[in-house]
Amino acid sequence: METALDLSKLLSRRARSIDASGIRKVFDLAAHLKDPINLSIGQPDFPVPDELKRAAIKAIEENRNGYTQTQGCPELLRAIWTRLGSEIGWTPEPSGGLSAIVTSGTSGALLLAMMCLLDEGDEAIVPDPYFVMYPQLGALTGGRIVTCDTYPDFRMTAARIERLITPRTKVVLVNSPGNPTGVVLGERELADIVDLCRARGILLISDEIYDEFTFSESLEGGRFPTPTRMSKDCLLIRGFGKTYGCTGWRLGFVAGPHDIVQSIAKLQQYTFVCAPSMAQYAAVHAYDIDMRPWVNRFEKRRDTVLAAFDGVAQVARPGGAFYAFVEVPPALGLTASQFVEKAIAESVLVIPGKVFSTRDTHFRLSFAAKEETLERGLSVLRGLMTR
Ligand SMILES: Cc1ncc(COP(=O)(O)O)c(C=O)c1O
Repeated sequence: METALDLSKLLSRRARSIDASGIRKVFDLAAHLKDPINLSIGQPDFPVPDELKRAAIKAIEENRNGYTQTQGCPELLRAIWTRLGSEIGWTPEPSGGLSAIVTSGTSGALLLAMMCLLDEGDEAIVPDPYFVMYPQLGALTGGRIVTCDTYPDFRMTAARIERLITPRTKVVLVNSPGNPTGVVLGERELADIVDLCRARGILLISDEIYDEFTFSESLEGGRFPTPTRMSKDCLLIRGFGKTYGCTGWRLGFVAGPHDIVQSIAKLQQYTFVCAPSMAQYAAVHAYDIDMRPWVNRFEKRRDTVLAAFDGVAQVARPGGAFYAFVEVPPALGLTASQFVEKAIAESVLVIPGKVFSTRDTHFRLSFAAKEETLERGLSVLRGLMTR
């Protein structure tokens, strides 16, 4: 039936300004493929650990299905603080110090944090390439998202950030290990960013959704490099979805300065209300589970990817996560979107860089795929580059 509504008048500028066409185009192109070699997926290829499945089922069967406290169920908050205490030395200090809140995914955390911080015209500096949500946080909040070009090594350094700071800059957002590059920033680089933000009165937000997926050579003194170990004036954002293969459970958290976290709680109360209850009760047990065997497996796959493109294409070495951001060899004379169309024509699904960037020179390959699938896909991609 024809609609009598004039949607162009009804839809807000906010909704109209968000363009989802880049990624949709890839999926449209792929829709007719029967059994694609899918290297486009942004989530792990392992099942949720049995302990977590059982805990979620138990919570549902025990009728613990109601709202939790806005801030999160006390058992999970305790588990989070135990982890943060041992890992980065943070402990809850509700009267003016540090707080935490459990959120509906890391996306929920990012949205609410930015809604609390950015007024119309206020600026947040984010890396380019970026996680797809980052630029949209401008439209969603009214703030202005300023992209920090990190090509070709994808390191968001203090020097690159400093050039972009204006009197309106309120936030610097770092993401390490990064999506779509897998690049991990070192402690020295993070310390410089912490110092810069402190000197300029800017809040540093650290999106650490891939913290557990840090490969051995990127750990420093056996530890994951995080700015939060150097400063409590940071907003730490982490998630459970990627680490434990439960992205659909929508679970993340924010920890940081008490007053900011309380503002986030206020907005959560009137939006998401609370994170999904059964996921919260399950995640209480998450930190008891050792995901290292999977991380080691991803590290081996990373090595396979680097070996496949060695001498053929430039790839910044991923130190974590499960992505590689591969440059389309300039000699081919193709944009990344054109190259990806060719790959899809040969049944290999990867995502063109312009979905994650203002440039269209690279593509994102996810190695969250079975080794055999990965090998087949790499062979096709390599073939397209060398033919
Ligand atoms: C860097 C980064 N941050 C945040 C998210 C959002 O994760 P969630 O599923 O927890 O909302 C993603 C998901 O791909 C991501 O890559």
